[in-house]
Amino acid sequence: MNFLIPGGAGYIGIHIAFLLLDSGHDVVIIDNFSNSSSESIDDLENLMGRKITFYQSNISDETELNRIFTKHSFDAVIHLAALKSVSESILKPNEYFKNNCNGTSCLLSVMRSFGVKNLIYSSSATVYGIPRYLPIDEKHPLSSNNPYAETKLKIEEELRSISEAEDGWKIVCLRYFNPVGAHESGLIGENPRGIPNNLMPHIVNVANGELPHINIYGNDYDTIDGTGVRDYVHIMDLSESHLLALNYIGLKVINHEDIELSSIAKAGFHIFNIGTGKGCSVLELIRTFEEVNNVKIPYKFASRRPGDVASCYADVHRSAQAFKWIATKGVEEMCSSAWNFKIRS
Ligand SMILES: NC(=O)c1ccc[n+]([C@@H]2O[C@H](COP(=O)([O-])OP(=O)(O)OC[C@H]3O[C@@H](n4cnc5c(N)ncnc54)[C@H](O)[C@@H]3O)[C@@H](O)[C@H]2O)c1
Repeated sequence: MNFLIPGGAGYIGIHIAFLLLDSGHDVVIIDNFSNSSSESIDDLENLMGRKITFYQSNISDETELNRIFTKHSFDAVIHLAALKSVSESILKPNEYFKNNCNGTSCLLSVMRSFGVKNLIYSSSATVYGIPRYLPIDEKHPLSSNNPYAETKLKIEEELRSISEAEDGWKIVCLRYFNPVGAHESGLIGENPRGIPNNLMPHIVNVANGELPHINIYGNDYDTIDGTGVRDYVHIMDLSESHLLALNYIGLKVINHEDIELSSIAKAGFHIFNIGTGKGCSVLELIRTFEEVNNVKIPYKFASRRPGDVASCYADVHRSAQAFKWIATKGVEEMCSSAWNFKIRS
């Protein structure tokens, strides 16, 4: 089968592309390199030992998308292309709405005109806003407290609407919690442009001596050690969920003995959390990183950041039930693989 991966040069997309190629499928990646570079395509080519079909394009460029869809036929689209920094979205909301929402509408319109109606969409746990209860299941009320989350919510609404209004769409929306780590080869991993937004790339930069210490925002939360608790999920587990989600919409991408044909999704819009279901505090993550990698991570406590919550972790029963996806890798592997990628790159 052949899959289009918009945003496929980014952190998550490159790992999904690897798994699909490794399972014997073809991929076409499009990316405008706004938060990645040609390096990740080169790295994937090195890992696979073959050329990857790639277009440096923007998902808002309808003419270019039409050209790509004319040249290739796709079984499904795995749509990851988005700007994803919460703090940047507060400073540049218009850019976020234009890129994420208008870009997605453009992609959907080209998919529609070529009759490609299978879609796996990358959403985020940010759509739950401040948790009202834990663990967070998919029925948890939705709210947005920043423009990035608002773009994710708007896109989810659009996907739901088109799947209700038009025949044939099979859309799986995956709400990721906190993906971390890298492929075991150390050849692909998280390599954002500029100052990283997420915790793990910061930890790795401190371990490497690029930063003197890490700031921990808040040590007086009502958690195990006072620092914020999140649901970290290994990138390879998270990537595998996309292959199982493709199985779920009827494309047999990988063999999975537990999946019965009766569990294949009907057309429509289907939402799943993607996490481990377990919380891990910032201090626990730092200590594990130090232990498994035998490095020191100096840290300083700073005041809480507005909008941050004490704890956030997923209820993951729905994906386990629907397409038998369960995260198998622990925090140790997340930390060792992230460091392995850094020291090899
Ligand atoms: N990493 C996380 O913590 C996280 C958590 C929840 C959801 N997500 C979502 O998962 C998806 C992938 O995230 P990631 O961590 O790999 O981010 P990333 O920034 O590494 O990857 C996104 C890729 O999309 C590309 N892109 C952005 N706008 C584009 C456009 N208009 N046209 C073409 N390419 C474009 C970027 O250059 C980048 O390579 C995003 O939609 C993000 O919102 C990520």
